[in-house]
Formats: sequence, structure tokens, C-alpha cells
Amino acid sequence: MSRTPRYFLQSYGCQMNKLDSELVESRLVASGYERAGSEQDADVVLLNTCSVRQHAEDRVWSRLGVLRQEKRQRPELVVGVLGCMAQEHRRYLQARMPHVDLVVGPSAFGDIDQQVERARSEAAARRVAHEEAVQKDPRATPGGAGIVTVDHGVSGDTIHRDVRVRPHRSQAYVSVMRGCNMPCAYCIVPTTRGAEISRPIAQIVEEAQRLCDDGVTEITLLGQTVNAYGRDLGRDVTLARLLRALHEIPSLRRLAFITSHPNFLNRELVDALAGLDKVSRFLHLPAQSGSNRVLKAMRRGYTFERYVARIELLREAAPDYELHSDWIVGFPGETEEDFAKTIELMEAVRFAQSYVFKYSPRPGTLAAEQGVDDVPDDVKAERNRILLEVQERHTAEKNQALVGQVEEVLVEGPSKVEGRYSGRTRQHRIVHFAADDPALIGRYVPVRIDEALGHSLVGVRLAENAAEDGARARTEVRA
Ligand code: 5AD
Ligand code: SF4
Repeated sequence: MSRTPRYFLQSYGCQMNKLDSELVESRLVASGYERAGSEQDADVVLLNTCSVRQHAEDRVWSRLGVLRQEKRQRPELVVGVLGCMAQEHRRYLQARMPHVDLVVGPSAFGDIDQQVERARSEAAARRVAHEEAVQKDPRATPGGAGIVTVDHGVSGDTIHRDVRVRPHRSQAYVSVMRGCNMPCAYCIVPTTRGAEISRPIAQIVEEAQRLCDDGVTEITLLGQTVNAYGRDLGRDVTLARLLRALHEIPSLRRLAFITSHPNFLNRELVDALAGLDKVSRFLHLPAQSGSNRVLKAMRRGYTFERYVARIELLREAAPDYELHSDWIVGFPGETEEDFAKTIELMEAVRFAQSYVFKYSPRPGTLAAEQGVDDVPDDVKAERNRILLEVQERHTAEKNQALVGQVEEVLVEGPSKVEGRYSGRTRQHRIVHFAADDPALIGRYVPVRIDEALGHSLVGVRLAENAAEDGARARTEVRA
């Protein structure tokens, strides 16, 4: 009897990709596959890839080089490239990487189990052919099955999700839309993921309800421009309405959504954020730059002043929201004055957290075709360092202000430091506390913050049933 087939799936890139990987896994498990402990132990190796920056792609190209060697030893191995690079580089993969059997774009995952099955049966036949080839030339490379499915497959969203297959018991992602219609000059996503397609509210609520029935209490909604949700479905379908509908699920305790675009942070959404107490108190609202000249060249559709005005709108209505941003340094033509405006915006808003990226030209994008990547790498690196330094100062100051407060922490699991567990607050901050009990995972516990570290907080867990008479009076719980 043949053994249960095993897959090894490695994910690169954004949360959207992580969710796609979960959906792929759930299909494979439903078809009788099991997860392999390592690549060497797998019959099928799948790489779910990202194209957003060159660095993300380089990591995958080098993995594919290693897999080419692996396949020389094991010609029956099935290798699949999924996600954004599959979409972007399908021709190259097909023509130049004969050891790749499957190339599946990000909107064609729905029947991945069948595609893998086909590739496996072809691989078995190939093994026989390869053994014959090796007789003639011992260095022969086994060819791939050559199955290429790019964008005409079944989207992962259209399949009925098996909610039992998920990495975390109490937390889950839910995709609310795919693709992106924004014209950002630097970005490859609209090419790899296509135009915006929103899922109907009823479908999202049904999936969320099933997740909550199975023990999920925190849901994070995903979309490239999640707050533009619904504009392809009609005027009255908006993120605010979706949030209100999901808020009704009794066992749901936290609801977050990423990533937002500043242009769609309007009064309706701000009112919903202020009024819905289950919504996590952070907003990921990438500013990218503070220079109006650069923002225009990036085609972001707002200015420094308009960005700040939107934040003020939010802060007036809901002052407890923290802001997170992404920034690109070294966009074509970015001068020292432009960069100074970026620092100014960062100082004006005071974000809780930022990701900073060095501009990476993506072939086919407007910025790569029309602009010149003229900011030297050492200047990009220096600007990157400076921005992170400003951000770290703000993060540290904000964290310091929390010392002495009690925060509600959703426990995620053991932290890297032994004897400690960690989880997140409603504002998405990481908190570590002394504990040694796996039964805590998924629970919401009060933690008194005692210390602020660079990127996280350290505190002491308090008894959940202690009287609500102030932090100091509550009982400390020892690990
Ligand atoms: N170069 C550098 N960073 C980029 N991002 C998107 N495209 C590029 C690029 N070509 C960044 C943006 C975006 C985040 C996901 O990645 O800041 O918000
Ligand atoms: Fe990377 Fe963007 Fe694709 Fe996500 S959507 S995997 S960030 S290229």
C-alpha cells in the first residue's frame, strides 16, 4: 500500500498570501494529504510567492535552485510555484524551469488539490521516463509536468472554506475582496492580483459565523484596499456596513481589518469605528511619503495635508485608535527636501508602528517604466535607518505611556523567552507575561503593564475575576 502523500508549503509575502496558503492546505488535507515535516520528506513542495519587492522574489529563485537539485535525486517530486510570482513570471517559469510542475496564480487556487493530483500522476509516469533517460545520460534533469494554470482557475474565495483547518484556534483571517484598482505607480499588485472583486456581505458573514461557531473570537478582514470594499457591488455596500453586520455575531470579540487606503477613510467609516466596540483599536493606513511632489508621482491621490485631515477626522471621533503606516524611501527623484517632509508627516501623526521599504523597481509598473531608479542604494539605506529611528522613538514613548495600565490581552502562545507567554492588546501591541499554561491560549486575560521594551510590553497577568477596583488592587497571577 502506498503511504499517505505529504506536502510541504512555504509562504512568502503578505497576509493575503498566508490566508491563501491556509486555503490551499485545507484543500489538500480534505483530499487526503498530510503536512510533511520538511521539504525532503515531502512528495509535493509548494512555494506561495510574492512579487512586491525584488528581495521577496530573489528568495524564491534561490529556493527553486535548491529544488532543482532535489529533483535530480527524486524525479517523482512535484514542485509548484503559486501566488504572485506564478502570475508575473509564468512564461519564464514555463520556458526556463523544467523542474517546476505547477504554476498557479493567486486567483486560481480553488481546485488546487485536483491540479496537484494531476501533477503527481504525471510525475509517476515521468519517473519511468527519467530512469530510461539516466541510462543514456546520468546528468539528465527530469522535466516538469508542465501544468500551467494562471488566472482562469477557481478563486480560493469561491470554495466553501473548511473552517476546521486553520493554524490558530481563536484567530482567523477572512478575505473580503481580491485584487486592487488603485493606480499606485510603484506597485505590481494590480498586475498580479487583477481588478477588485468584493465578496457579498452575506457570504462573508456566513463564513465568519462558521469560524466563530468553531471557536474563533478574533477575525481580521483582508483586502489590498479593504476600506474600498464593496464599491464593485453597489453604492450601499461598504466596509462600515460589513463591520456592523459582523459585529452582531455574539461570540465574536475582536474584529480588525487590513490594509486601508487614506482616500477611503470617510465619515461613514469613522463613525462605524467610533461606535463599534469590538473593532480593534488600530488602523493600518500606509502614507508611503510625506512629500506632495512624491505622492503625486506615486499617484496616491492625496497630499500631506489631506492625509493629516483624515487622521484628525478619525481622532476626533475615536481618539483611542493607533495608526500604523508603510513608507517607501528612495522613490525615483526623491530629494532630501522630499524626505524631510516624510519625517515631518511621521512626526505630525505619531504612528504606533511603521514598515519602511527601500524602493524596488517592479518591471511593468509606471514608476519602473517612466522613472529612473536614481536614488543610490546607500542613500536609500540611510533614509530607511533614519525613518526607523524616528518610529522607534515614537513607539518607545507610546509604550512607556502604558506602564501601569491594565490591558486586555488575547493570548497567542509561548513567547521566545522561556516561562513567558505573549498575546496582543486591542491596539495590536505585543505583551509578554510570566505564564506556563497552554490552556491560556485563546483566552482574554487582563495584564498590568510593568515595562516597555522597544517593540513590545512586559506585564503581569491579573486574575480575571478580581474586583474591578483598579490595577493595583487586582490579584497577580504567578506563572
Ligand atoms: N518598492 C518598495 N516597496 C514597495 N511596496 C509596494 N511596492 C513597492 C516597491 N515597488 C510597499 C508599500 C506597500 C507595502 C506592502 O509594500 O509600502 O504598502
Ligand atoms: Fe506580495 Fe502584493 Fe502579492 Fe501580497 S499581493 S503576495 S504583497 S505582491
